[in-house]
Amino acid sequence: MLPYQIIEKKSYGMELTPEEITFFVNGYTQNAIPDYQMSALLMAIFIKGMTNEEMLALTKVMLESGDRLDFSGAEGFVADKHSTGGVGDKVSLILAPILAVLGIKIPMISGRGLGHTGGTLDKLESIPGFNVNLSADQFHDMVLSNGVSLIGQTQNICPADKKLYALRDVTATVRSIPLISASIMSKKIAEGIQGLVLDVKTGSGAFMQTYDDSKALADSLVAIGQLYGIHTTALITDMNQPLGRYIGNWLEVEESLACLRGEGPADLMEVTFALGNEILKMADHSLSDDDALKKQQGVIDDGSALEKFIATARLHGGDPKVLEKPELHSKASLQVDFKAAHSGYLQAVDTMQLGFLGIELDAGRRQSSDVIDPDTGFVIHKRLGDKIQAGDALITIHANKKTTLDSVLTQLDQVFEIGEETVEMPKLVYKQIG
Ligand code: URA
Repeated sequence: MLPYQIIEKKSYGMELTPEEITFFVNGYTQNAIPDYQMSALLMAIFIKGMTNEEMLALTKVMLESGDRLDFSGAEGFVADKHSTGGVGDKVSLILAPILAVLGIKIPMISGRGLGHTGGTLDKLESIPGFNVNLSADQFHDMVLSNGVSLIGQTQNICPADKKLYALRDVTATVRSIPLISASIMSKKIAEGIQGLVLDVKTGSGAFMQTYDDSKALADSLVAIGQLYGIHTTALITDMNQPLGRYIGNWLEVEESLACLRGEGPADLMEVTFALGNEILKMADHSLSDDDALKKQQGVIDDGSALEKFIATARLHGGDPKVLEKPELHSKASLQVDFKAAHSGYLQAVDTMQLGFLGIELDAGRRQSSDVIDPDTGFVIHKRLGDKIQAGDALITIHANKKTTLDSVLTQLDQVFEIGEETVEMPKLVYKQIG
């Protein structure tokens, strides 16, 4: 088999055999196939798509590129939550400790920033000392003893996704249902979980911008989960504007801490609790939505979810002082408001473009070797439908370089659309699948 022939076959839109997919992905993971050939195949898949059989073969080879964890002896329900990616989406940071305190075991294997979206690992690494590179044994032990641990793909767990994810991030090959499905589900199946809730984003800041595409992605993810015997539910949630107010790695940790102190914005808490409810109801079928919500609110009110977040960070080597007193963390040296040029109502936010502007500020990567600036990003002040007066601050830019700050300032007027009529706030949770 030659990589060249497989790329060519896919470029004509022909169906690849499981053997061809396995050969290519294993060859790439073991460094026998170079980045440029893998990039070409990814682009061919991106453009021509994959059949269900191809997608399942891709998921299988990615899953089998590393070990699968085994939590069969664990006390309590073993579950996870994963998002298809959005802007300002820090739900994992808030929900993981909430669920761990409520007795769910959460082995969370996450990703880095992808395309215009942020990644849980980059956010966690903005906590000084936080190590996301634990061995499979350390990870397993921490989940059992602490209830939760958050790591990235390793040489032992989904190494194929680790390599492919980094390549897709910089080759504009993310927005593909089979590629996203195989990436997410290989990581999640490898975790050895019993239950999974997926947050499938839809709207201007999501990889799938139309409802129909998001629904197709949700169906595909849920079908793979069920095939592997995992109780899987997906919620389709809104991403027509950033979730919460803070965008950027440390900024999002800061907002997550506020949520765990009970000071989180309503939209972010609504999505967090909706996803949490699904897991709690899977673990205990007798629970109503109301009971599940009360349980989540309870561990925020009594401070135990915040304590769990800090204890987990400490176990990962993170500095607890900045979590107890966020004002001790470094801050971007330049903080400048972008103001509305005229009055009206906020009608639309180009959320994907805002995510890309975050990359210009170094909050994400242009190429896989880039080092992220943990302190840069945005704090957003206006929501869809808000009344705006000329001169109101729409967003504050947090930057460390004057040149990038100036460049972002000139582009922000393309992000915010202000018109004469108000618009309704979009519904946050559109539909449940599975
Ligand atoms: N999250 C992932 O883990 N993979 C994707 O491809 C997209 C979102």
